[in-house]
Amino acid sequence: MVYLLLKHVHLTCVSLTLVLFSLRVYWRWTESARLQARWVRIVPHVIDSCLLASALGMVSILGWQVWIGAKITALFGYIWLGRLALKGKTPLQRFYALMGALGFFAYIVAVALTKSPVLGGLS
Ligand code: HEM
Repeated sequence: MVYLLLKHVHLTCVSLTLVLFSLRVYWRWTESARLQARWVRIVPHVIDSCLLASALGMVSILGWQVWIGAKITALFGYIWLGRLALKGKTPLQRFYALMGALGFFAYIVAVALTKSPVLGGLS
């Protein structure tokens, strides 16, 4: 029951974080002043904290698994390239960083669905 609740929170945060990240990239691209709004600088951190907290809650129930290690490692890649996609100096740098960040995001989702760091390939 608690696990299901945590999973719902996790999945809601996954959707919200992707929507907000896309919005911020769009505003960065169009050089919109909205990017500087107070809520835009605070809400993503709150959502990401909930995403991580719900994930750690599920891990505490499930126990450690190899695919969880892969998700955490890929999360660092997503965070790093996600920041670069917003703060990169040139449009080309931001574009490549965006592609990489979306690649990491897709990998994280695929690992979650297959429960395998190699996406079911070797199991
Ligand atoms: C951007 C980061 C993340 C994304 C996009 C993401 C995505 C997902 C998705 C789509 C699911 C649902 C899988 C299913 O329906 O079977 C899921 C489940 C889960 N995630 Fe994440 N996740 C992220 C971060 C994390 C992290 C950092 C951890 C571990 C610390 C984690 C642990 C879990 C666990 C334990 C489940 C439940 C698996 C299950 O019971 O089916 N997630 N995640």
